Amino acid sequence: MRTDLSINELRQLYLDFFKEREHLIYTSASLDSEDPTLLFTAAGMVQFKPYFLGATPKFAGFDGVWHRVTTAQKCIRINDIENVGRTLRHHSFFEMMGNFSFGDYFKKEAAAWAWEFLTDVLKFDPEKLYVTIYETDDEAFEVWTKHVGIPAEKISRWGEDENFWPANAVSDGPNGPCGPCSEIFYDRGPEFGSEDEVGPNTGSGDRFIEIWNLVFTQSDRQEDGSLIPLPQNNIDTGLGFERLVAVINGVPDAYATNLFQPSIQKVAEVSGVEYKGQESLSHRVIADHIRAVTFSISDGVLPTNDGAGYIVKMLIRRAARHAYLLGIREAMLYTLVDNVIESMGEAYPELEPAKERVAGVIKTEEELFLKTLESGIRRVNTIFSEMDGKELDGAVAFDLWQTYGFPLDITEEMAEEQGITVDRAGYEAASELAKQASKGETSTDSIFAAQKDTLGILAKEHGETEFVGYEETKIKAKAIAIVGKDSDLVEAAKTGDEIIIFLNPTPFYAESGGQVGDAGTIDWDNGQEEGRAIVISTAKSPEGLVKHTAKVIKGSLRTGQGITATVDLRRQEIAKHHTATHLLHESLQQILGNHVGQAGSLVEPERLRFDFTHPKALD
Ligand code: SER
Repeated sequence: MRTDLSINELRQLYLDFFKEREHLIYTSASLDSEDPTLLFTAAGMVQFKPYFLGATPKFAGFDGVWHRVTTAQKCIRINDIENVGRTLRHHSFFEMMGNFSFGDYFKKEAAAWAWEFLTDVLKFDPEKLYVTIYETDDEAFEVWTKHVGIPAEKISRWGEDENFWPANAVSDGPNGPCGPCSEIFYDRGPEFGSEDEVGPNTGSGDRFIEIWNLVFTQSDRQEDGSLIPLPQNNIDTGLGFERLVAVINGVPDAYATNLFQPSIQKVAEVSGVEYKGQESLSHRVIADHIRAVTFSISDGVLPTNDGAGYIVKMLIRRAARHAYLLGIREAMLYTLVDNVIESMGEAYPELEPAKERVAGVIKTEEELFLKTLESGIRRVNTIFSEMDGKELDGAVAFDLWQTYGFPLDITEEMAEEQGITVDRAGYEAASELAKQASKGETSTDSIFAAQKDTLGILAKEHGETEFVGYEETKIKAKAIAIVGKDSDLVEAAKTGDEIIIFLNPTPFYAESGGQVGDAGTIDWDNGQEEGRAIVISTAKSPEGLVKHTAKVIKGSLRTGQGITATVDLRRQEIAKHHTATHLLHESLQQILGNHVGQAGSLVEPERLRFDFTHPKALD
């Protein structure tokens, strides 16, 4: 085996091998995928989908038409995040080497070249290589046995879960280009295996390692589940670079190599905790996550509370927690950007110029999290110690995220350490609710309404609700009444209940004149426990009562309880759009004439619409 190669040489050797076979060496697509169905670019083929379907393969910066392309692609997959650091096979960020044919060469060449690259160029022992094919793909069997010359007993056939790409696409989709695949496995020897591991796709060990996936992209899956032949036969291969680096260097995993060692050594130095291979989970998680975060931010995916940005935030926080577990008490992850660049900067020249920006973003996020980490950890431990059962309420887990910035993932990791599970469905529900609240998508009356006579009684007793939200967005007030789901007044509400709360006074602006109502939170402490409800929307009844539609996500709330009401800052965004409608109105009158009148408007946190009267279309 070619153990003499540096990581950069190995990567280049792959690309040059295919360049010699008339492939264009093309650049990795951004991790910030343009494909709306993906959070991140997750495979080499993502940027080439149109070419499999028959579009002319032309590439920015290169003349001519290229039916053969090769890339080293930056990828992120986070579906098995809890296994990161524990196995050879899981990384959040990884590189996928690939060679692609768009209606040019097919199975014969793809198989023969893969074999040649592994056995001739990298000097893999052919005895240790195994091949899997799709159960009905006799053509692939012929190619491997007759054309490449592999003994039939080295080849095994598997179903669509193992040897179709995307996996299980025949039964479950997605629609679009797909096909049977053939995988090449390397046998690392019994010391890496489990007893039940007798060949590829068997057992639970890490002995037979898939290193290269050759996809024969020949079908187009339709909505009705049928597979029709694509206008052309294509090749999409993916070789896991980290695995290759580990295997070729004869080490258990890539953490032992220079792909990760610079970061790991820095972590060891700063923490004073020596790196000891597989048992040093924290060093490994940090070294893994910092790569994903550095590449994501350099590609423009910043830590946010939604979508791909949420993943970036979660990865930073997971890494920060592991740094904390190693005894590190100050922000330091951001300094690892240098080490990532040391490992990866030559192959990905976009990193170096982004260095300061990336480090700055990480540092800010890290410091924010550190501020809440200790109190959060205390809070989580208290919750665990006071729990009756072994399942944590999903709404409570969501509150840990909202209040302490603990991603579900960290809560689950801490829970697992104590044999506790987290109610994921409940978490999703609370999260969905909060999302709706921040978008103002739910309206009070669509959930349920307080009965008219109830409102009448309340109005008589308490008078109209006083609105103080122009002066204050956070006030102390009293829950003067609670209406439950059956539209009746209730004495108290508990975690999980959807309710209408009446406060007096209130800082929440009620929906009016095209401006959506406020959302926010109501918090209380009844002496025994803290509680919280999320206000989803705010509306006004004809009696002048402000109705706050809310969901209790923690604790229980009794009528008469003193609370703190906090308006979500989205109101500021709404206010800006409100101002903008007036500016727009004035501008239209100045440019088009005083006849321009307002015919309606919609004012939301993210956009405004302004309807106006003017006899002609505008240029
Ligand atoms: N698309 C295939 C994979 O992701 C091969 O590149 O495994």
